Formats: sequence, C-alpha cells, structure tokens
Amino acid sequence: MAVSHLTLQRLGASEVLASLQALRARQPVKYAAFYSSQLGGVVTDPALMVIPFDDHIVHRGHGIFDTAGLVNGRIYDLEAHLDRFLRSAERSKLALAGSRDEMRSIIVNTAAASGLRDGAIRYWLSSGPGSLELSPAAGAQPGFFVMIFGGLSYPERWYTEGLRVMTTTYPIKPPLYAITKATNYLPNVLMQMEAKEHGLDNGVFIDDSGYVGESSNMNVAFITKDGFLRHPKFDHVLAGCTSLRLLELARSLVGNGLLTGVEVCDIPVADARAAREMVLLGSSVKVAPVVEWDGQPISDGKPGPGARALLQLLEDDMRTGDRLIDVPY
Ligand SMILES: Cc1ncc(COP(=O)(O)O)c(C=O)c1O
Repeated sequence: MAVSHLTLQRLGASEVLASLQALRARQPVKYAAFYSSQLGGVVTDPALMVIPFDDHIVHRGHGIFDTAGLVNGRIYDLEAHLDRFLRSAERSKLALAGSRDEMRSIIVNTAAASGLRDGAIRYWLSSGPGSLELSPAAGAQPGFFVMIFGGLSYPERWYTEGLRVMTTTYPIKPPLYAITKATNYLPNVLMQMEAKEHGLDNGVFIDDSGYVGESSNMNVAFITKDGFLRHPKFDHVLAGCTSLRLLELARSLVGNGLLTGVEVCDIPVADARAAREMVLLGSSVKVAPVVEWDGQPISDGKPGPGARALLQLLEDDMRTGDRLIDVPY
C-alpha cells in the first residue's frame, strides 16, 4: 500500500510549550492549581499540568485517585477519602509517593495555592514512568498529583425535578475492581454515555445476582415504603464517603416520621423498583432524587421529602460539621 509522504515537525521544548498553550487557548479549562511530585511543585497555568506519557497510569491504567470537596475554604471529610485512597493503593499494589501526613499536607497546601474556596480536590497516585511494559518499570518512582478545580456540576433540574435513569447494558465491575478507586472507569464512562444517548441522566449497574449496584460516579440508595433507608452492601460497589457519612447522619431522622430505620443489605431489583424514594449519593452530586427508572416512575414520580432531608443533613455537615480542615490560604 502506498502511503503519501508527510513531513512531521520535530518539536523542541519551546514549540511543545507553545502547542500546549494553544491547545488550552482553543479549549479553555478552569483548573486552579496542580501539584505534581514529578514536577516538584505547583503550577497554575493549565498548559503546564502535564504528566509523562509513559507513566503507567496513562497507558495501563495503573493508578488510583480520590476526590474530596472544598467548601467555603475548608476541606470536607478528607480523612475518609484518604483512608479509601490508601486502601485502593494497597489493592492496586502501588507504592506510596510519601506518608499519609505528607500527602495530606500537599493536598491542603495545593488547595491554599489555588486560592479557590469552593470546588473539588482530586488527587492521584501513579505507578510511575519508565517503560511501556505492564509491571512497573525498574526504578519507577510513584507519582502523586493533586488538582484543584471547580468540581463537577449537575443541572439544577436534577434537584428540583429529579433524575431519570436506566439499567445499563454494560456489566458491573467484578467486586475487587468496583471497591478499588482505580483510574479504570471505562464501564462507568460507557454507562453514562449510554444513558445520555437514550436522553436520560445516568445509568445503574445491576450485579449478576440481580442486586442493585451503583451509578457512574455515585452510589444508589432507596427509602422503602415502610420508611427504611436501604443501601447496597459495600462488597460489590465503591464505599462512597458520602454514603457512609449519610448512613450515620440519617439515624437522626429515624423516628421523626421520615425514616423508620437504616439498613445496608443486598437489594433485589424488584424491591428497589417498589421503593418510596430513590436517591443518588456522592461527593459531587451530594443527594439527588431519582424519579424514573427504566421508564417507570419511582412512587409518584416526584422528588420526595427523604431526599430533601438527606441533602439538608449533608449540607449542614459540609458547612458546620466536625469533619472540616481549614485551608491555610
Ligand atoms: C463508582 C463510584 N461509586 C460511588 C461514588 C461515590 O463516592 P463518594 O461519596 O466518596 O464521592 C463514586 C465517586 O467517587 C464513584 O466513582
């Protein structure tokens, strides 16, 4: 086969920088600050927020991440997110790029360098560069990266009118991968794209036994007709920090007419569909009511009081609770 000749430019450092800046000019992004252990500090110009292509987090997905919220100049529930980060690192056989205290300090101080007071903090641990093999390269140094940005935003309609979701046709991750927050989000991405292609807001994974799993980057929970807040077990879905916190906080609603109890158990799909309320839970979405699933309304098809009460509990905890770290701006 004859292939026509193309003269590819050989680029030097200044041309690469100019290309990266042009890319960001064509598609502006709002990332406030980025720390990289590989760069050895913090950058605020998005053109400089780069990672070597041969880091195994890029070409093999050998990396993990987590995201904590930045609320009114304070970081919410960082210790729970760090616990999960360390568990994910261990399951992924990733060496740490520093101690927990060092990583916490870098996260808090990158937030300070950003100047941002409301948004999200996402941080990654990578296997490191050095080869295009599968196992970490000889002498690979794990990378640690922190991004401070505005956070994911969802339509106001999700909270006022509720979401419409579908059972995804994509298989749920096997438990080991579902409980590990690795950078392998292909099933999650495909599920969300599939829902959007159907004109819906998101998808729901169901496991092989017919139990409810989770959504793309959110957990799913229900309030049963007899008032139980019911959440899937955390053995086949990610242990959402929001879910775990709300399962504690929601006990204050028991007995006041809104809830009769709180349960973590396997939830067969048929039971789930008969719920009084269905909600999505997560650091980015907080608490959002689901009003339709696979074309069928949940209860009367309107957001319910349980979702509102759970959102209120979470928002109060995020503003005035005892799980906040002050950012030293
Ligand atoms: C697959 C998945 N499930 C659930 C969650 C909710 O977790 P959290 O409440 O810690 O944000 C997330 C978000 O990180 C997620 O990616």
